[in-house]
Amino acid sequence: MKNERPRVMINVAMTVDGKIDTTARRGAVISSSGDWERVDRLRAESDAVLVGGRTLRGEDPRLTVKSTTLREARQSRGQDANPAKVGIVSEASLSPDSRFLTHGPARVLIFTTGRTTPAQIARLRERGAEVFVLGERRVDLVAVMRALYELGIRRVLVEGGGTLNAALLRLGLVDELFVYVAPLIFAGADAPTMADGTGLASEDAIRLRLRSVAEAGEGGLIVHYDVL
Ligand SMILES: NC(=O)c1ccc[n+]([C@@H]2O[C@H](COP(=O)([O-])OP(=O)(O)OC[C@H]3O[C@@H](n4cnc5c(N)ncnc54)[C@H](OP(=O)(O)O)[C@@H]3O)[C@@H](O)[C@H]2O)c1
Repeated sequence: MKNERPRVMINVAMTVDGKIDTTARRGAVISSSGDWERVDRLRAESDAVLVGGRTLRGEDPRLTVKSTTLREARQSRGQDANPAKVGIVSEASLSPDSRFLTHGPARVLIFTTGRTTPAQIARLRERGAEVFVLGERRVDLVAVMRALYELGIRRVLVEGGGTLNAALLRLGLVDELFVYVAPLIFAGADAPTMADGTGLASEDAIRLRLRSVAEAGEGGLIVHYDVL
């Protein structure tokens, strides 16, 4: 069917004041030292892990499953060792040596716009990435979800940043939200938050239903919501 899309989960680590990085935007560590195992399990349960362009360029994340046991369990279920890595970039000027492109093995899917030149697309394809042009200035996220579904992807884990999270939430493309709340305050009006962009009127607020709250060690909390 035309409007079918994968189940989409956002995982984010934020400070008590909702920031997902400092104003320096250098990928500050927010989670507790043990929280990577929970995130690793979420990745291992997903068919794809999706990130926005600024997170890709700023953090160059690996996005692979760290645990050998979890990778082997995926393979024994007939899945690839790692979920597909998905980048949403208006202009795909990624370094060919980036960890996002090279660390694997993993299928790499890049969704971009007409702003990416044919030469840039050719270079990414040479590195083994599958490149899709969906949109003129911004990537059409509804079309991305449809395309992922058509590629057989049924569970997507979104790992930021705030602009991408907000755009997906606004479009009604998110089903669940996992928030790690660290006992920290970064402050700063320009520090990214878990949902940025232009904001919503209070009557348009995205409503959530609490599923669970758990202590995560080192004073952190993991809050799990359904998006209504
Ligand atoms: N704590 C955490 O859990 C966590 C997780 C991830 C990231 N972060 C932090 O978040 C910050 C980055 O977040 P960010 O908000 O600046 O950027 P982002 O959400 O990572 O990326 C936004 C970019 O995605 C591209 N894009 C293309 N089409 C889009 C569309 N329709 N909707 C939304 N985005 C679209 C654009 O790329 P172009 O720039 O190519 O136009 C846009 O600039 C960094 O500081 C990073 O360290 C924190």
